[in-house]
Amino acid sequence: MARLIIISNRLPFSVDHDGDQVSIRQSSGGLVSAIKSYFESDAAKNSNITEKIWMGVADFSREDFDREVVPKLDKYDFTALPIFIDKALYKDYYNGFSNSTLWPLFHYFPSVVEYHSHYFEAYSKVNSLFAETLLPILQPDDVIWIHDYQLMLLPGMLRARAPKATIGFFLHIPFPSYEIFRTLPTDWKMNLLRGLMGADLVGFHTYDYVEHFVQSVRMVLGADNSFRSIQYQNRLVKADLFPIGIDYKKFSNAGNEPEVQELRAEVQKNFEGKKIIFSVDRLDYTKGLMDRLIGFEYFLNQHPEWQERVVFMLNVVPSRDDIIAYTRRKRTIEEKVSSINGKFSSISWQPVIYRYMHLPFNELAALYQSADVALITPLRDGMNLVAKEYVASTVNQRGVLILSELAGAASELNEALLVNPTDVQDVSNAIARALAMPIPEQKQRMALMQKRLIDYDVIRWVNDFLDQLSNVKTEQNKQQTK
Ligand code: G6P
Repeated sequence: MARLIIISNRLPFSVDHDGDQVSIRQSSGGLVSAIKSYFESDAAKNSNITEKIWMGVADFSREDFDREVVPKLDKYDFTALPIFIDKALYKDYYNGFSNSTLWPLFHYFPSVVEYHSHYFEAYSKVNSLFAETLLPILQPDDVIWIHDYQLMLLPGMLRARAPKATIGFFLHIPFPSYEIFRTLPTDWKMNLLRGLMGADLVGFHTYDYVEHFVQSVRMVLGADNSFRSIQYQNRLVKADLFPIGIDYKKFSNAGNEPEVQELRAEVQKNFEGKKIIFSVDRLDYTKGLMDRLIGFEYFLNQHPEWQERVVFMLNVVPSRDDIIAYTRRKRTIEEKVSSINGKFSSISWQPVIYRYMHLPFNELAALYQSADVALITPLRDGMNLVAKEYVASTVNQRGVLILSELAGAASELNEALLVNPTDVQDVSNAIARALAMPIPEQKQRMALMQKRLIDYDVIRWVNDFLDQLSNVKTEQNKQQTK
């Protein structure tokens, strides 16, 4: 019997205040939907987990939490353990080291990376606040699962004070090649890797990311490895791949909801006779939104026969809007949308329908189902769950996925039309091919991708990771008794 402690930068919900009204919204991102689906599943209920705890930074005040102004926490079926962090410190940790140093570097945008020692200090401080909050309540049988690049020092900090603890770590973004990783100052890269090596199991989405990590550990820390098993400070640490899946049924069954059906009927009526190309992404330079718009514009020029007959619904979700690299991007994208619409629109047709907002689930599901084509072309992406959600949502397996070969998901979704996101000709050709693809071919491709997603869904992902973590502990014990 064990307690499962999930640790991530964000709690899985955020709190919106509108005057006296307080509302709770599920946080965006694949991790939250993954773990939430697992918590609600039979697999979790039938496991030996006795209690679920989720620890993360609060976006509400300590007073609101203590006075239970933050309502209905029990509906989440876990205990929330919020950490309250001073705003200035959080800014240097979140906007600073996490999202202006690690995020661009790990996504291969070295020119965007900011190197400031006070960012790294804030990052270390916040990681140690997580450790200080957890250590006093830690029990010997607890299973700790830490998530993502914001908390790479935490496994090492916990290990130093709780040497026997069971600690897993999962990185949701790419781990870059050693040639990129090595550009970090020596002290930072050693600390980051030592931090990760405090875990028993370090998980990644793809084989390449595992390889990159193992090579960096060898080059920077000089640790010996045999394949994915690393010996570090007399302890076995494993690195392995666990490509995250989705809650397949949630998306494939969404069409049964009356509200989704109504919304879908409305979309079909409004765009009768036109094909719909759909995309949804957080506003992030890694998502390739500008290249995507340029690719669509190029397509309209190359294929005038499709003018008036296709719309591109571009949904952008607000994200990290205190960071200049993000706000600047918003302006240029909006200018590009206007220029395409200004150039091609007619009285009865507007080629790009652009929205900047969080889409409620039912609307997202209705749009996935209505889309003839999903155009998902990040310049770099750890996995990309939108691609998987679209595949699961298609009605009667009709629809075509165009996917960037630089997304982690491309290694599993080989039947998508894979494109290089910066190659306008490639993107334009793929759009033309997708719009004209015969229905039997659409179905054949979708069926193969769907099968893979059903076989390795999010519940399997969590179970596999936790099983492997327990296997590493067994192996470590055997090594010690030898
Ligand atoms: C990515 C990261 C997550 C992050 C999410 C949303 O998926 O891997 O760690 O939570 O983006 O970004 P945000 O900065 O809003 O948490």
